[in-house]
Amino acid sequence: MSKNLLLPKPHEILEIIRETEIEYTFRVEADLKVEHGQFFQISLPKIGEAPISVSAMGDNWLEFTIRKVGKVTNEIFNLRPGDKLFMRGPYGTSFPIDKYKDKDLVVIAGGTGVSPVRSTLKHFYQNPDDINSLYFIAGFKDKKSILFEEDLENFKTKFNTIYTLDNEQVEGFEVGFVTEHIKKIPFDTFEDYNVIIVGPPAMMHFAALECLKNGVPEEKIWVSFERKMSCAVGKCGHCKIDETYVCLEGPVFNYTKAKELLD
Ligand SMILES: Cc1cc2nc3c(=O)[nH]c(=O)nc-3n(C[C@H](O)[C@H](O)[C@H](O)COP(=O)(O)OP(=O)(O)OC[C@H]3O[C@@H](n4cnc5c(N)ncnc54)[C@H](O)[C@@H]3O)c2cc1C
Ligand code: FES
Repeated sequence: MSKNLLLPKPHEILEIIRETEIEYTFRVEADLKVEHGQFFQISLPKIGEAPISVSAMGDNWLEFTIRKVGKVTNEIFNLRPGDKLFMRGPYGTSFPIDKYKDKDLVVIAGGTGVSPVRSTLKHFYQNPDDINSLYFIAGFKDKKSILFEEDLENFKTKFNTIYTLDNEQVEGFEVGFVTEHIKKIPFDTFEDYNVIIVGPPAMMHFAALECLKNGVPEEKIWVSFERKMSCAVGKCGHCKIDETYVCLEGPVFNYTKAKELLD
């Protein structure tokens, strides 16, 4: 492990995009090699740090979509373009894009779970020839919780999309939970495929069970976990579930392993 990896470095905020009242996307200047699904420890001096997934990446910038929930994130929401965010990383495992290539891909995401999988979706949106087909089921609580509206519109043009709101009727959205729509995926017509599930733990649990019920083998399912972390490098044990260090072996897990951690 490089020593530098543990040292937070300042990065300029280039732009702040307001997604919802409590979720903003921060675009920061960064010339770093990051894999889809990895996270950074984002910090402010004398305040603290929090693990945050990369939600998009480009030439010399990264985006983080942050929900304002506590000590660190409250302070981050006071920042403006031109201010600095401190970061160390990237950390963790990533979605195995090469394994998904030339196959069918199903992405099932709930709420802020869209954020860690957004860069993977953007990758296949920009490289549609790398994938046979992509089915994207995204669910949000209500209209005011919808994230990445522009991306959702764009994805409709290249992916098979189903967007749902838990219990609000809005044009372009079904009503109900994402799990209710999994049976619409034509798994039996796919030659080879993978399924990504990201969202709150209960949603991932029930979405995975629904996939299994529809004949999806465990090893085709991939999930990403948000777990309390501190060091992010396997030293403190904060992220441990039984013997598994989520910061090192995750956050992206194959379901064959994740099933032990989800219950
Ligand atoms: C791999 C990974 C990726 C992540 N990616 C993202 C991401 O992309 N975007 C994102 O927004 N978040 C993400 N998270 C979650 C984020 O790291 C946490 O929400 C983090 O705790 C926020 O830090 P904070 O200091 O602002 O909040 P904290 O102060 O740590 O509060 C976090 C939660 O604990 C509750 N809480 C705080 N203090 C108390 C208390 N005394 N009693 C009871 N409850 C309390 C708060 O209400 C809040 O719900 C990720 C987590 C992981 C592990
Ligand atoms: S967060 Fe410290 S060991 Fe994983």
